[in-house]
Order: sequence, then C-alpha cells, then structure tokens
Amino acid sequence: MIYLDNGATSFPKPPQVGTAIMAALAAPASPGRSGHAPAMAAARIVHRARKALAKLLGIKDNGRICFGPNVTWGLNAALSGLDLQRGDHVLSGTLEHNSTARPLTRLAKEKGIEWEPIPPVDGAMRPEDFKARLRPQTKLVVLNHASNVSGALAPAREIKEAIGNVPLLLDTAQTAGSVPLGDAGAWVDLLAFTGHKGLLGPTGTGGLWVGPNVFVAPLAVGGSGSRSESLEHPDFLPDALEAGTANTHGLAGLAAGVEYVLETTVEAIREHEMGLTQHFLEEIVGIKGLRLQGPGPGRKDRVATVSLNLKGWSSSDLAGALEKDYGILTRAGLHCAPLTHQRLGTFPGGSVRFSFGPFNTAAEIASAAKALRALALQKGS
Ligand SMILES: Cc1ncc(COP(=O)(O)O)c(C=O)c1O
Repeated sequence: MIYLDNGATSFPKPPQVGTAIMAALAAPASPGRSGHAPAMAAARIVHRARKALAKLLGIKDNGRICFGPNVTWGLNAALSGLDLQRGDHVLSGTLEHNSTARPLTRLAKEKGIEWEPIPPVDGAMRPEDFKARLRPQTKLVVLNHASNVSGALAPAREIKEAIGNVPLLLDTAQTAGSVPLGDAGAWVDLLAFTGHKGLLGPTGTGGLWVGPNVFVAPLAVGGSGSRSESLEHPDFLPDALEAGTANTHGLAGLAAGVEYVLETTVEAIREHEMGLTQHFLEEIVGIKGLRLQGPGPGRKDRVATVSLNLKGWSSSDLAGALEKDYGILTRAGLHCAPLTHQRLGTFPGGSVRFSFGPFNTAAEIASAAKALRALALQKGS
C-alpha cells in the first residue's frame, strides 16, 4: 500500500503514539475528577498535551487550549460561542471546508448574520481583498489556513494585519504540524486544530485555542471537576469549554504525536513534504490530459496536497484504479469543500487528491506519477 491520503488523516503514526495510548489505557483515567494517584497521572497526561501544543502553536497560556473531539468541534465552539447577532458581517475565503461553511450557513439562516466568502485570485487568498470588504458590522474573519483541495496556503499573518482588530478564527486542520506557525498565539485570535492529521495523533482529538481578547460561550455545559458546588458551569478556561470527561487516552497519543513533531521540527517536516510535492508536480505536469487544480511547480504558497483530474476518467474511477491496480490510496470527490470545487469548475464530480505526509518517500511519489502516466495512456491521452 502507498498511502497518499494524509489530508484525510495521517498514516502511519509514530510508534510512540500507540505506546502512549496503550500506557494510558492501562490505568484508570479521570483527569481533574478524583484525587487518587492514577487520576492525578491522567491530569498530567492532559497537561502534557496542552504544553506540547502550546509550544508548537506559539501559545503562551496553555490553559486557554480547550480540547474537544476534532477541529470541527473547535470551529463550531468558536462560531456558536462568539454571540454573533442579526446584521453582523462575517468574512471568509471560498476555500473553506464544510466545517466552517455549514455552521456559517446555519448562522445566516437562523440568526441573520451576513456571511461573505471571498474568492481567491490565481488560487491564492489576498489580504487586500479582506481589507477592502471590511465594514463597521464585520465581527469576524474565518480563514482556512490551507485548502484541503488545492493545497493553497493562505497568507494568514498578512490577512490578520489587513483586518486589524477584527478577530481572526484560523482553521489549521491542514497546517498544524506541517507548516511552522511560529508565534501564532501572538496574532491569531482563535485557533482551531485537529489531532489526527499533521499533529500525528489519533482521531477523536482536537480543539480550540481562545485568545485573551475574545470571549467564547460554551457549546455544552456539565461536569468539569471544578466548582462542583455550583449549578452554573465554570466561566474560566479551559473548564468553560471542556464539559465532560476528557479523552485522556486520545490526548496521551496526541501529546506523543506533537512531541514527535517538535523533536523532528516542523521546519524539517515542511521541507520534506514540499520536496515530495515539487517532485510530484514536476513529474506530472507534462502528462497529456492532466489538469492540476492548484498552485503548480515552483509555487511556495502551498502545502503537500495536490488535486488533479485526468481526461477520460471520473475522479472516483481514477481513485479506484489507483487503488486496485497500483495499491495507491488517494481521495476522490468533493473533499467536504463544495465551494472550492465550484470555484475550480470541478463541481460536482470533484477531483482526485494526493496528500503527502512526513513518512512518504520519493520512491512512492515516483510510483504515483508513473501510475498516472499509465492511466492517462489507457484513455488514449
Ligand atoms: C481544512 C479543513 N478543515 C476542517 C476539517 C475537519 O477536520 P475534522 O474532521 O478532523 O474535524 C478538515 C478535514 O478534512 C479540513 O481539511
């Protein structure tokens, strides 16, 4: 098997991740609840995950990192907790994933907010386009840091500079762990992350970092292990957004995944992944009948995700042939990003997405390019 679907979830995970999960499973896990030794050890596991993430994301106060099951939860927690009201204006790109597009559609329908998605130019989001659309009613900018379809990387920091005091909610699903985020905690207002992609942790982990200048009301309230005398849910972070027992087993794996990324360094992972991407792009651009859906060879404003279509093939048939005939795993279709595909002209059939990770090799990339060449010939291109 050649696994080129890291944009969906990363594989393999570093062995430390499995070891950490198994070790956590071997003890009772009720962090922040009971006071006995295993419960305290479970709390230390959760703390370790917060600490490692804070280091990776350039966040000073790790107590504002709130864990949930994935980035979809983090984005929903932010969008529903910001108290957006009728007439409020929200900007985003058109490269958003449904994890923001659907909550924003719901907010528009149910609360009367105005959501304005901005199209990219030459595949890229431009800070000046955000600045030009700001209004007194603009309450939030939502930004997918990197498109999970085209691989285009948004200039998030420049966009934040362009929008000034308007809060920025950054979806780092495709960048955390694979693109250096430097001191993101110093300029992003809300940062949502998922544990199972570039952070190399297990599924069921993710969350939201809430910057000091924004208030997010809880999506759910309930047990927190703190202030149990009160029927009111605590208003301090992270407890305010973490109702219910934490996923200690998953967070043990996430901590190990993030620590692996920190040891390897995000810079080294980025260099490796971009090397593979350039190699792949150079190998495939000349294939007759191949249409690349995103930044081409030489462009640095991208991540290691390459979408394409091949003449004569539907995206699902092409992905099926890649798996059946060559053991190459990709993802076909709309990638939960219909607006992006509408923009690319690939709606509703979608494209085939190749997404590379830290453990892919140059030989695997060469095999994928060779398979594409052979499949193009099969349809007479
Ligand atoms: C850009 C982007 N945002 C959000 C998500 C949702 O991730 P999750 O399913 O882990 O919540 C994905 C996953 O594919 C994504 O690529």
